[in-house]
Amino acid sequence: MVVANRLPVSWDEESGEWSPSPGGLVSALTPILQRTEGLWVGWSGVPEVGFEPFSHSGIRQVPVELSEQLYLDFYTGFCNGTLWPLYHDAVRAPEFHRHWWRPYREVNEGFAETTVAHIGSDDVVWVQDYQLQLVPAMIRERAKAHRIGFYLHIPFPPLELFAKLPWRRQVIEGLLGSDVLAFQSRSSRTNFSVAARRLTEAEGTTRELSWQGREVQLQVAPIGIDTAQFEELGRAEEVREHAAHIRSELDNPDSVILGVDRLDYTKGIDLRMTAFKTLFDMRPEMVGKVSFVQIAVPSREDVPEYQRIRSEIEGMVGRINGDFAEVGRPPIHYLYRSFGAEELVGYYRAADVMLVTPLRDGMNLVSKEYVATRYDNTGALVLSEFAGASEELHNALVVNPHDVDALADTLGRAVSMDRTEQARRMKALRRTVASKDVFWWAERCLNALGV
Ligand code: F6P
Repeated sequence: MVVANRLPVSWDEESGEWSPSPGGLVSALTPILQRTEGLWVGWSGVPEVGFEPFSHSGIRQVPVELSEQLYLDFYTGFCNGTLWPLYHDAVRAPEFHRHWWRPYREVNEGFAETTVAHIGSDDVVWVQDYQLQLVPAMIRERAKAHRIGFYLHIPFPPLELFAKLPWRRQVIEGLLGSDVLAFQSRSSRTNFSVAARRLTEAEGTTRELSWQGREVQLQVAPIGIDTAQFEELGRAEEVREHAAHIRSELDNPDSVILGVDRLDYTKGIDLRMTAFKTLFDMRPEMVGKVSFVQIAVPSREDVPEYQRIRSEIEGMVGRINGDFAEVGRPPIHYLYRSFGAEELVGYYRAADVMLVTPLRDGMNLVSKEYVATRYDNTGALVLSEFAGASEELHNALVVNPHDVDALADTLGRAVSMDRTEQARRMKALRRTVASKDVFWWAERCLNALGV
C-alpha cells in the first residue's frame, strides 16, 4: 500500500474523468502495485468532494476526503507555510501556528484510519513525504503487525533549524513508527538521526535507531527518473523537430540557456536572473547571442510567499528585458505554465545549457531529465551544490547559487564549453542517471521493506 498526499490520478472537472498524473514515482510504482494488487491511498486534489474507492491504471485507488478549511490549514498552512520553508534551510521564515498543527494531526489521522481500514494481514505500507510524517506511528498504534516504510522526498534539516519546530518531538515520534525510514541524501539521514537522539529517547547510529524496543533502519536512497523513457523521448523525431522549431523561434541564437522549475522560492530563480544579467554586464558581446528560456510551473498559488516570489521574478524578467532587448528579441523568454513530458523534452533538446540553481532541494529531477535526453553527449549542466542531485552528478558544473558572481562566471563557462568537454562530462553524467533510475530506487526501498 502506498500512502501519499496525492493520488497518482487527478480529477478533471470538465470531462468528469480521472487521468493519470505523470511522474517518476507513479511510473516506478505502477508495475509493482499492479503485480502485487496494491492500493494507493491519497487525496483526490478536490476539496469537499468524497470519492469512493475505484480502480484506474490497474491500481486500486483509495481517495481521502479533505474539507476546504482542512485543505487550507493542513496543506497551504502547516505543510507549505511551516514545514516546507523549515525543511528547506528556512530560506523563508517558517510560520508556527497551533491552528495549523491541529489540522495537520487531524489529516494525518484521516490518512492513517483510511489505510488501516484497507490493510490486509501481510501488507507492507509505504508512506510518502513531509505531508504525512505522523502516519507511520498512527498506523502502528492501530495495526501493529504490518511492516511500515517512510520516504522523505525533501531534505531533513539540521538540528539547529528543526529544533525550532514546537511539535518537533511529535514529528520525530511519528516517523519512528516506521521500520525503514529513507532519505534522499546522507546529510538528511544524519540530520534525522542526530535530531531523533537529541529530542527523543531513541538510541543508535546514523544507520539504525532503537526505539520502544524496535529497530528502525535509516536508509539513503536517492530517487531517480525513468531514464530510458526520457532518452527515448529525446531521440524521437517529433521532439527533435520541436526542438529545432524552438531554436528557430528564438532566432537561432548561438546558445540557449534553459531553466525549468515549479515556481518556488527554494528554486533560486531570482538569483539565476541576477546572474544572467551579471553575465551580460561582464560580457556585453554575448547580448543578442544568448537566449534564456525560463519555464515556471505554477505551484501552491494560495501560499502568500509563492505570490510574492512570482511577482519578484516577473519584475526581474521585465527589467532585464527592458535593459537588453532588441525589438522582437528579448533575451529572457518566460513561460508561466506547465508542459507535458514530450513538450518539455523538446525544450531540453533545444537547450545548450541547463541551469538548475536551487537554494535547497531534496533531489531535483529536472537535472536528471536533462541529462537523460542528451543521448548525443552535448550540452552542459550547471547545478547548485545544495540540490541532492549534486551528491551524484559530480560532472556537472557545480556552483553555490548565493555567489552571484561565481554563478555568472560558471554560466559563461557553460555557454563557451567546447564539444570535447561537454562530451566528457555528459557521458559520465549519463552513466550515473542510467544506472540509478527510478526503478533502481523503488527496488532499493522496497527490498529494504521485504517486498
Ligand atoms: O518534492 C516534494 C513535492 O511535494 C512532491 O511530492 C510534489 O510533486 C511536489 O513537491 C509538488 O508539490 P504539491 O503536491 O504541493 O503540488
